[in-house]
Amino acid sequence: ESPVISDIKAAIRTIPDYPKPGIMFRDITTLLGDTRAFRRTVDELVNPYAGSKVDKIAGIEARGFIVGGAMAHQLSAGFVPIRKKGKLPHQVVSVAYALEYGSDEIEIHADALVAGERVVLVDDLIATGGTATAAVELLRKLGADVVACCFIVDLPELGGAERLRGLGVEVRSLVAFEGH
Ligand code: PRP
Ligand code: MG
Repeated sequence: ESPVISDIKAAIRTIPDYPKPGIMFRDITTLLGDTRAFRRTVDELVNPYAGSKVDKIAGIEARGFIVGGAMAHQLSAGFVPIRKKGKLPHQVVSVAYALEYGSDEIEIHADALVAGERVVLVDDLIATGGTATAAVELLRKLGADVVACCFIVDLPELGGAERLRGLGVEVRSLVAFEGH
């Protein structure tokens, strides 16, 4: 692990038993508020794409918007929001996905992308991978070429990254935490 990655990991705060007993919540607000760690995080996320063509960064509501906007600026790419059901005002494409209890739905504007555009998907964290899997499905419905999915944090025990790789997409994360 490089010193830069150690610094990024150290800037993430862990809150035990939030939002319920037994969960170790990985809180990135401390990282976002740390001038150096936030810049380094964005730099590390965009580095693999320096010199390659990325048309759009797609960010997942809500925390994926924060890093996604910064990445899009840095890469001179457009930004596409993937939002929770009912938030986007124009015609949408939707995908439902299962949660621990019940299900949820995410949406993208139908005209957010042109088929064939190269898109990098980003979120702050991947756990079970349910959200990111649904987001890849949305992007592919619009004909996007999903170049990669990237995350600040991976919780490998929950298998989300493996599940995403099973869709044939490249997955990158900066730090991993064991124990959840
Ligand atoms: C968290 C996190 C990811 C998702 C990961 O978001 O920011 O988006 O869960 O979980 P999964 O891999 O099991 O699908 P959350 O739904 O808590 O909402 P927020 O980003 O709007 O705070
Ligand atoms: Mg989220």
